[in-house]
Amino acid sequence: MKRLIAVMVTVVFVLGFGVLGFAADMDKCGSCHKGDKALDKIVKSKKIESCDALMKGVKEGKAAKMHEKLTADDYKAACKTLNLK
Ligand code: HEC
Repeated sequence: MKRLIAVMVTVVFVLGFGVLGFAADMDKCGSCHKGDKALDKIVKSKKIESCDALMKGVKEGKAAKMHEKLTADDYKAACKTLNLK
């Protein structure tokens, strides 16, 4: 019985962190990209089909300055949630 409780606590713990981590990833872009400017909408309207195209679009776009602080990992995380390769 004790063991079962330990396992359940571990599972809840890990799941909780997974969700928190996911939310943090989303926030990197989501703090600015929401509503009409949500990333999935941008990706669709600009016909961005890969992670490379996404990064290129950002760097060459008029808002490049807004993205200076973002790292390659941030883009990778964003690509993952957007299902880009
Ligand atoms: C500090 C605010 C901010 C953050 C954080 C941010 N963006 Fe942006 N982003 C902008 C603004 C402002 C624009 C210009 C929107 C427009 O065209 O009206 C933009 C435009 C873009 C565009 C379109 C570029 C173009 O002009 O073709 C892409 C793609 C994009 N962002 C991706 C991302 C991704 C991916 C992240 C997270 C890793 C991110 N952004 C985080 C503010 C932000």
